[in-house]
Amino acid sequence: MRIFSGIQPTGAKHLGNYAGGFRQYATTQDQGEAFFCIVDLHSISVEYDPADLRERTLDLLAILIATGLDPERSTIFAQSHVTAHTEANWLLATVTSFGELRRMTQFKDKADAQQFVSAALFTYPVLQAGDILLYQTDIVPVGVDQRQHVELTRNVAERFNSRFGETFTLPRAVYPETGAKVMDLQEPEKKMSTTGGTEQGTVLMLDSPDVIRKKFKTAVTDSGREIVHASDKPGVSNLIEIMTVATGDSIDEVQARYAGEGYGTLKTDVAEAVVSLLQPFQDRFRELRSDPGELQRTLARGAEKAREASAPTIAAMFDRMGFVGRR
Ligand code: TYM
Repeated sequence: MRIFSGIQPTGAKHLGNYAGGFRQYATTQDQGEAFFCIVDLHSISVEYDPADLRERTLDLLAILIATGLDPERSTIFAQSHVTAHTEANWLLATVTSFGELRRMTQFKDKADAQQFVSAALFTYPVLQAGDILLYQTDIVPVGVDQRQHVELTRNVAERFNSRFGETFTLPRAVYPETGAKVMDLQEPEKKMSTTGGTEQGTVLMLDSPDVIRKKFKTAVTDSGREIVHASDKPGVSNLIEIMTVATGDSIDEVQARYAGEGYGTLKTDVAEAVVSLLQPFQDRFRELRSDPGELQRTLARGAEKAREASAPTIAAMFDRMGFVGRR
């Protein structure tokens, strides 16, 4: 089985990325041949700083390894190192409709937050479809915010297959049972995010223990007193889910443990669980990040493996679309 997922290097990584992304990558890498892509090309679709992109790319590689990916077992690479991704983007853009892209809710949300809305931000889901399809991917571990992008990928793949002949495996998104959409601690109707959420409501992977405690202490809760996971209790439900992510317990177990307790106790305990989860990760991250040369060598090895794995697909795409052979 082939596994593929991507994550943007820019923007500080947060608990939502851990719950929907990193945590799932580490568990799925054992289920087959896994590819994890640092999508630096996606990051430039909004305003960014080139020097920052370079640093954040190495940060993200260190985060991926520190959260449990093994570069010997999984292929971890930077998107810009494998030129098939930009080639696939153009070829697949011809079988993606303007109307489909216009319906992408992430585009609408992100475009609202930008002064300059680039064409790249609009066509971003085509690049993402190429990322996934180039590796004949069976499963894509992601958070639920990526559902629409993976559905678009399937539609694009089906259209290409029926127009040019069977070329792509149809991928399926997989979400974690809990924590598939971690919400902002201050505004629990919004997903946790460094672009759309609040600063105080976003717990960063590299926040210090004191900052983490403060963010949970000021977390917004709901009316009533009961600690239950329910649709009319978005704040408390979010805290319960974060607890399941940090401890591995189920929602039922957390609810049972806090029966009769107050919101204050839950907040303090979730904060401590997150501090304990992140502390060993942060130590390992700092150790790995202190050797940028080794990180760059790891990326170079990953790129070599990714080029090899994607080469047959990109060659088949050019061939079936009628291009004269390049060799
Ligand atoms: P990105 O970089 O925004 O997010 C990386 C991963 O983190 C998940 N995630 C969340 N999960 C739960 N709760 C949240 N609040 C939360 N916020 C983010 C995302 O679902 C994702 O799994 N377009 C993608 C990157 C991408 C990609 C791909 C993903 C490019 N090519 C191919 C999969 C396959 C993105 O911007 O993710």
